[in-house]
Amino acid sequence: MTDNYEFEEEEFNTRFNGKTITRIAQQAKPHWKMLTGFLLAIILVSGLDAIFTYISKRIIDDGILAQDTEMLYQLVTIYGALIIVSAVGVFAFITLAGGLGERIQYDLRKKMFARLQDLSFSYYDSTPVGWIMSRVTSDSQRIAELISWGLLDTSWGIFGIGSSVIFMFIINWRLALIVLTIIPILVIVAGQFQKYILGEYRKVRKLNSQITGAYNENITGVRVSKALGREQRNLDEFRELTSPMYKASFRAAVLSALFLPVVQLISAIGIGSIAWYGGWQASYGGITIGGIQAFISYVIFMLFPVQEMARVYAEMQRAIASAERVFSLIDSKPDITDRADAVTPGSMRGDIEFDHVTFYYEEAKPVLNDLTLHVKAGETIALVGPTGAGKSTIVNLVARFYEPRKGVIRIAGRDYTEWTLHGIQSRIGIVLQTPHLFSGTIRDNIRYGRLNATDEDVERAATLAGAHEFISTLTKGYNEEVGEGGVLLSVGQKQLISLARAILADPDIFIMDEATSSVDTLTEALIQKGMERIMRGRTSFVIAHRLSTIKRADRILVIEKGRIAEMGSHAELIRQKGHYYRLYTQQFRRELEQEYNPYEGLPVAGD
Ligand SMILES: Nc1ncnc2c1ncn2[C@@H]1O[C@H](COP(=O)(O)OP(=O)(O)OP(=O)(O)O)[C@@H](O)[C@H]1O
Ligand SMILES: [Mg+2]
Repeated sequence: MTDNYEFEEEEFNTRFNGKTITRIAQQAKPHWKMLTGFLLAIILVSGLDAIFTYISKRIIDDGILAQDTEMLYQLVTIYGALIIVSAVGVFAFITLAGGLGERIQYDLRKKMFARLQDLSFSYYDSTPVGWIMSRVTSDSQRIAELISWGLLDTSWGIFGIGSSVIFMFIINWRLALIVLTIIPILVIVAGQFQKYILGEYRKVRKLNSQITGAYNENITGVRVSKALGREQRNLDEFRELTSPMYKASFRAAVLSALFLPVVQLISAIGIGSIAWYGGWQASYGGITIGGIQAFISYVIFMLFPVQEMARVYAEMQRAIASAERVFSLIDSKPDITDRADAVTPGSMRGDIEFDHVTFYYEEAKPVLNDLTLHVKAGETIALVGPTGAGKSTIVNLVARFYEPRKGVIRIAGRDYTEWTLHGIQSRIGIVLQTPHLFSGTIRDNIRYGRLNATDEDVERAATLAGAHEFISTLTKGYNEEVGEGGVLLSVGQKQLISLARAILADPDIFIMDEATSSVDTLTEALIQKGMERIMRGRTSFVIAHRLSTIKRADRILVIEKGRIAEMGSHAELIRQKGHYYRLYTQQFRRELEQEYNPYEGLPVAGD
């Protein structure tokens, strides 16, 4: 999976987008104080770097060559003092860059997280989790690194070169002009190299992922290819892909290997010109020995920032691609939002009506067709039917995780899109088939139902849900951590905790997707009891797999292919001898036999 996302990342970054760059820069805006401190420290340090070389020149000319020990002593003292200042400056900007990077990454992640919370279920249908994870982790990091370390290298380079140039002009303007012609050549050459190297690497990655794909296909289909006598063709195809990849890798390697020598050659030409022209000037006293030495140091010093900036340039392309994806996530609009005039309901008690509701996840595949249903307040509805019939879809619509494509759903007499989303969802208690617990303690997880609940409330809800007993047997009881590093809970136990959470929330509407498997008989009995408690007096939808739940419902809906195939009480439907009767006689016979067999019904240890 990750390979694909990596590959797609490479595809993105072929151009520079001014708008994206501006927006990346804006991420630093809230931290302008840090940024200013960071830039000031860099200006200080780069200035000092150039001054050090200048002082060395003075030490040679005015101290050593002039045999002036007083002067030598002074210069060395200044040198030493400035080194301390410079060290403090380096410490400051590295710390600030690190801090800036952390904060920007935190901001971006927070923005993405907030958006991910708002986005509707449909966003998650079409966006792989792996894609989202890559945005949140590696992309935000890449952007933050560009703003912190990338900016550090670039500004250090620019200010370093800038202050060197100033001192070169102070020492000798003619030589300075020669060096000035070298800088743009170095920058252009380095930039071009990076561009070509990156291009070749991109080709390698692209071909590599094609090859991986071909590998997969050939390995999984190896029997078929053998049977069809396709081996030779597969090999040929494989070779066709491998040879351009080999060539591209080779070109990338040659270019990388050439980069440094070429840069060194250019600077050697620069140093040569300085030696030659400077030497000639020195012959008539136009420049001192220390001056020539200083120039050579400046040119050598420039190599490093130029290489660094070339590297940052390459990283910048990747960071821009990352930023485009991160911003696209931050900018995505949830397709279920509150209307401008939405009202917050005081309660969601009242009838629930599906009025000619049509729904599909993907346009070509209708799931619910013109469904009409009237559920009275306080009624318990059991939904049964084959897998893929649309049972979960119906409750997803009730909870407004999705909205009808056609038709209207009314709660308490009003089109539910007139209510606020939060208003509806905070009045609904849901227990999912594979219940989700958040990291934290069991107590925290139950308390999610009502954040201001006291510990006693939490325990009361757990007792009502039937969860108290098993929680008490845990070493730390309610303070036991769940999930990674904590206790491993069974699906049934997680359902009990979710039930307790729902009971604590005291919702008007209750939705339950019964667990189908891995629930032991004892837990199952507890869940049954908990459900009974919470369903009392509330409008409830239960996607039921157990006969006991189904029988207890006020009304059973048999859903088939997105339609209500049958509707009525258990007794009525049995009498009709239709779908339900068949389901009942086939699927529930075993369960039924168990109910009457005094031995099979006993709790069994484990699952
Ligand atoms: N998020 C989704 N995106 C696209 N199609 C979906 C999505 N969820 C469900 N479907 C499709 O909609 C249809 C109804 O699915 P639904 O989950 O409502 O069935 P169900 O009756 O709950 O089945 P089960 O008993 O297996 O839970 C199925 O064909 C399913 O493939
Ligand atoms: Mg389902």
